[in-house]
Amino acid sequence: MKLWGGRFTKETNKLVHNFNASISFDQKFYKQDIDGSIAHVTMLAKQGILTNTEKDTIVSGLNNIKTDIETGKLLIDSTHEDIHSFVEAHLIERIGDTGKKLHTGRSRNDQVALDMKLYTREELLEMKDLLNTLLKTLYNIMEHNIDTFMPGFTHLQKAQPITLAHHIGAYFEMFKRDQSRLDDIYKRMNYSPIGSGALAGTTYPLDREYTASLLHFDGPTLNSMDSVADRDYLIELLNALSTIMMHLSRFSEEIIIWNSNEYQFIEIDDAYSTGSSIMPQKKNPDIAELIRGKTGRVYGSLVSLLTTMKGLPLAYNKDMQEDKELTFDAIDTVKGCIVLFTGMMDTMKFNKTIMESSAKNGFTNATDAADYLVNHGVAFRDAHGIVGRLVLYCIEKDISLDDMTLEEFKAISPVFEDDIYESISLDTCVNKRNTIGAPGKDAMEKVLKIYKEYLNI
Ligand code: ARG
Repeated sequence: MKLWGGRFTKETNKLVHNFNASISFDQKFYKQDIDGSIAHVTMLAKQGILTNTEKDTIVSGLNNIKTDIETGKLLIDSTHEDIHSFVEAHLIERIGDTGKKLHTGRSRNDQVALDMKLYTREELLEMKDLLNTLLKTLYNIMEHNIDTFMPGFTHLQKAQPITLAHHIGAYFEMFKRDQSRLDDIYKRMNYSPIGSGALAGTTYPLDREYTASLLHFDGPTLNSMDSVADRDYLIELLNALSTIMMHLSRFSEEIIIWNSNEYQFIEIDDAYSTGSSIMPQKKNPDIAELIRGKTGRVYGSLVSLLTTMKGLPLAYNKDMQEDKELTFDAIDTVKGCIVLFTGMMDTMKFNKTIMESSAKNGFTNATDAADYLVNHGVAFRDAHGIVGRLVLYCIEKDISLDDMTLEEFKAISPVFEDDIYESISLDTCVNKRNTIGAPGKDAMEKVLKIYKEYLNI
């Protein structure tokens, strides 16, 4: 059953077999392994290394194996070392000696490099789609909340008023960058390693360009040692996935804060919340917390692979087998988190009245009061001092700037006139801010148009 029994006289120790085997996890890419083999033998036949009849027999045998795995007729069992051995053994069992020609001009080193690339490439595209659905959900919230005022924070202290659309828009930008990071990785990784052999190419006249084109790569990789030893693209992917998780985690943290009894800015839908076994009143934001928590796990895979690769001499080393479980886990984790986060956002209720009244308190219009003075000839530093005194006065009286009478304003600075009220109203504070990227309605509408085009909706 082994691919390499020839030079051995003893059976492999059972524990060694188990320790060495990867079939429990690399069966995840049985489909890619078979597709890669089909492309390889198609090229071998074109080059006259196999006959067309041999190629056809092998291809149909491989296709049957694929169908049987998919329909559950053929179970992938762990007696084989890896998915490559499993497929080859079953091919030989089904089609006889012709099956033994499948591995001509190939090593498991370039084969596994190919399988992992094919798998990752598909997952990367799926990840982009999931991010797209999330972006559409965020766009939808933005479109309906251009006028929903809320406080913007720095240091988690109320700073200046913004809108919900503007706040959500910040995350739209982050996830849009995440998408483009995936695009970049795709472009860089999309070169085919197959045909590199164990490390030094092969003596057969392989047409690597042809195999690459059959598998929709942009071309073959250009150094056979690098081809079998490169895991950079996985490190880049894990970095991009870590960044997605970091963004989801920051957003989750805000959802948790907004959902707290103290804030009550939002209400998470019942379908996306959980209860407590002891406290009947509880409705907990577990999903947001779990997403925040799983971020550590994805960062862990990045650090893990970086550490595995550090110090590995060229070319292939078995250490690299460790790339699989952690990459699979990171991909599955991130996909799950994006889907759940999207559902949670899609069903969330926003308490607009509470958000707006929160924006009114906490002197979020203090900067605008200072700007008012500046527009009336006061130097900004002096204006800053005057408004500081206004704030102190209001804190003592437990009122907001808008509640002060004109006399009270004038007592602190005679520059104030009746138009101060309009100048520091929530509407002015937000909607006068119309530089590109600012929360003002005109500025937001322009950006939303760009986002609409981006999403092609
Ligand atoms: N399971 C191995 C891996 O994931 C496949 C390559 C095995 N190559 C070898 N020379 N032992 O890396």
